[in-house]
Amino acid sequence: MNIIAAVDQNWGIGNNGRLLVQIPLDQQMFRKDTLGKIVVMGRKTFEGLPGQRPLDGRINIVLSTKPDFSPKGVIVTKSVEETLSLLEGYKDKNFGEQDIFVIGGGQIYRAFLPYCDTAHITQIEYAYSSDVHMVNLEEDPEWMMTEESDELTYFDVIFYFRKYQRIHE
Ligand SMILES: NC(=O)c1ccc[n+]([C@@H]2O[C@H](COP(=O)([O-])OP(=O)(O)OC[C@H]3O[C@@H](n4cnc5c(N)ncnc54)[C@H](OP(=O)(O)O)[C@@H]3O)[C@@H](O)[C@H]2O)c1
Repeated sequence: MNIIAAVDQNWGIGNNGRLLVQIPLDQQMFRKDTLGKIVVMGRKTFEGLPGQRPLDGRINIVLSTKPDFSPKGVIVTKSVEETLSLLEGYKDKNFGEQDIFVIGGGQIYRAFLPYCDTAHITQIEYAYSSDVHMVNLEEDPEWMMTEESDELTYFDVIFYFRKYQRIHE
């Protein structure tokens, strides 16, 4: 299972329910990586999507404990366990572990990190004001950076695409 996130220097991912910054190349990469796949997100991240609509061309799974939360075009699950058993069922429909992307936000990254072995991280070289953070994989001995792009820029924003992998003992 994959994690995909854009983080700042402090591994911040959002502020006031919104992304820290929108970088077109990052958004294109996100679309390319997740199209045709299964995306797993929290209710707050879903509500931050444009028009509160599911991401097109992807199976959208949204976690929420709210009994009346049932937006069109998404599958709502009520727990991590329910989500994992739903995902298990997709394995019979030709989706493998590599076809599942945990797309945020902070609560959901934290809850699913133990089940993930690959993280696609867009690292932005700036410290924004941020009220939600992703686990810092640089400080986690179970994870190692295995790929890194050249330095990329969007106006004055410097960023890198990095891939981290869980180290199997
Ligand atoms: N930089 C990035 O790549 C990136 C990506 C995604 C999001 N973000 C940012 O992250 C922020 C949102 O993150 P967040 O941590 O506040 O919220 P979140 O993880 O998106 O959603 C939290 C909600 O998910 C539901 N939930 C969480 N754990 C659950 C569980 N075990 N079982 C059932 N439901 C569960 C709950 O919904 P109910 O309250 O309905 O029960 C909870 O309130 C925003 O600022 C967003 O822009 C950044």
